[in-house]
Amino acid sequence: MNMIVAVDKNWGIGAKNNMPWYIPEDMKFFKNMTINKTVVMGRITFLSFPKQLPLKNRHNIILTRDENFKVNGATTVNGVLTLIELVKELPSEDVFIIGGQSIYQTFEKYCKKAYITKIDNTYKVDTYFPNLDLLDHWKIDKIHDTKFTNDGTPFTVYEYINTQI
Ligand SMILES: NC(=O)c1ccc[n+]([C@@H]2O[C@H](COP(=O)([O-])OP(=O)(O)OC[C@H]3O[C@@H](n4cnc5c(N)ncnc54)[C@H](OP(=O)(O)O)[C@@H]3O)[C@@H](O)[C@H]2O)c1
Repeated sequence: MNMIVAVDKNWGIGAKNNMPWYIPEDMKFFKNMTINKTVVMGRITFLSFPKQLPLKNRHNIILTRDENFKVNGATTVNGVLTLIELVKELPSEDVFIIGGQSIYQTFEKYCKKAYITKIDNTYKVDTYFPNLDLLDHWKIDKIHDTKFTNDGTPFTVYEYINTQI
């Protein structure tokens, strides 16, 4: 499976259950990468979606420990092992871990690839992605061309590979 995320200079990813930035170009990248694939998220990230609806044209899987939490058009899963069992028949490259902090932390070791949009700025955040540069098993495989937000902030997609998988 893969991870996909946008981080600031300190690997910050969220504030008050939301994204601290709005970068339509990066949202397009996220959509292109995940369309018609399986996306796995924590309940908090799901609740941050507009109108609390699953992402269109993707198989949405929501992790929650609440067995009563159900969502139309999404699969809810109550534990890590159940999730792994559920996705093991799918091609690994078609499964994307899409956040948030707790889900990235839990699934980092199961992922072969990570698509990290690094935003060259710092924001007020309260949630983080693991700093892959401090983890020996993650290596940078490819760096995409740098783009710029409307206010001129550079952002660049880095592809990391997990050398342990
Ligand atoms: N920058 C980015 O690309 C990006 C992407 C995604 C999210 N985010 C941000 O990340 C933040 C949210 O992160 P978060 O860590 O607070 O929340 P989260 O990871 O989205 O969701 C946490 C919830 O997932 C469930 N969960 C976690 N581990 C589980 C397990 N082992 N088994 C079953 N359920 C489990 C629990 O739900 P229950 O409480 O229901 O049991 C837990 O409360 C937000 O600010 C969001 O905007 C940023």
